[in-house]
Amino acid sequence: MLRDDALQGKTIVVTGGGTGLGKAMGTYFLKLGANLVITSRKADVLEKTAAEMEKETGGKVLALSCDVRDYAQVEHVLAETIKTFGQVDCLLNNAAGNFISPTERLSANAFSTIIDIVLKGSVNCSLAFGKHWIKEKQAGNILNIVTTYAFTGSAYVVPSACAKGGVLAMTRSLAAEWGKYGIRTNAIAPGPFPTKGAWDRLLPGDLAEKFDFKKRVPLKRIGEHQELANLAAFLVSDFSSYINGEIITIDGGEWLQGAGQFNGLEAIPDELWDSFEQMTRSAKGS
Ligand code: HXC
Ligand code: NAP
Repeated sequence: MLRDDALQGKTIVVTGGGTGLGKAMGTYFLKLGANLVITSRKADVLEKTAAEMEKETGGKVLALSCDVRDYAQVEHVLAETIKTFGQVDCLLNNAAGNFISPTERLSANAFSTIIDIVLKGSVNCSLAFGKHWIKEKQAGNILNIVTTYAFTGSAYVVPSACAKGGVLAMTRSLAAEWGKYGIRTNAIAPGPFPTKGAWDRLLPGDLAEKFDFKKRVPLKRIGEHQELANLAAFLVSDFSSYINGEIITIDGGEWLQGAGQFNGLEAIPDELWDSFEQMTRSAKGS
């Protein structure tokens, strides 16, 4: 979508960058000229992804294991990034944990595990990177990945909904507070984009067939990773330099489909609309 050098010279850290959507976004950033740092807990996965990415794009990737729940490990990522690339321009808070469950079946630890990865992890990273940018008087860019149920809420993923709602609030709050330092903070709310990490935990067994996401989306398809990568690349680039505090939804219209009171009328066959029109017109005099 963007010209080849759109991210030339920028260093971008992607948490959870070894798999799924983080990997897709990171690969596109590299294609547009960025230096990339990918982090997550599993060093072997990160090393393999980094090698693949470098081969595919010719770019430079630093792979660092880091549990975002641990502030000291986040500070280590920041220090190693600066040692390798000289500076850091953008933080993409993408790491997450999630699974479906009736809430009453959850242990307190299960609930807080998700809050810790998603909310505390995004807070830890934003705090460490923000402090650095403010101290160095350097502009910065934070991009958070939330979900559409961060604003609607959702049954069966309550810890994730609470945590993503918190990240949404942090996005708007920091945008207002840190704008004066030249730090922009935005978020993307993706709809369904198939990844192994999400599908194994949210649509196990035959749920993927039974709960067919395609049917929930007005565009009648799930998202392609490149479509998300295009939006993310725009938001980390200088082409979006006046966008701050926005939550941009990319879901083919899915959450609105669930929200509009009459959206279910889609189920009415075309041939029935003539008789419905007659009935609604004849109601004029009643
Ligand atoms: C109930 C569960 C559970 C499950 C774990 N727990 N899985 N409870 N149902 N399916 C409980 C455990 O019993 C334990 O509580 C507590 O949660 C912590 O579990 P651990 O396995 O020790 O945690 P950890 O090793 O830190 O692993 C975190 C994880 C795991 C979240 C549980 O799934 C993970 O590593 N996920 C990372 C990747 C991921 O989730 N990707 C999907 C993101 S998708 P007790 O009480 O027994 O100690 C996403 C998309 C949203 O967010 C929208 C899609 C359309
Ligand atoms: P994914 O491949 O499972 O990505 C999650 C990543 O987070 C993994 O790389 C995982 O790596 C990392 N991670 C988990 N716990 C961590 C921790 N404590 N510290 C550091 N890293 C950790 O799933 P995905 O679908 O690509 O999800 C990426 C993002 O998109 C998430 O924020 C998710 O909520 C969001 N999202 C996805 C969808 C979708 O349809 N796929 C929809 C809406 C939002 P390790 O296991 O190696 O740590």
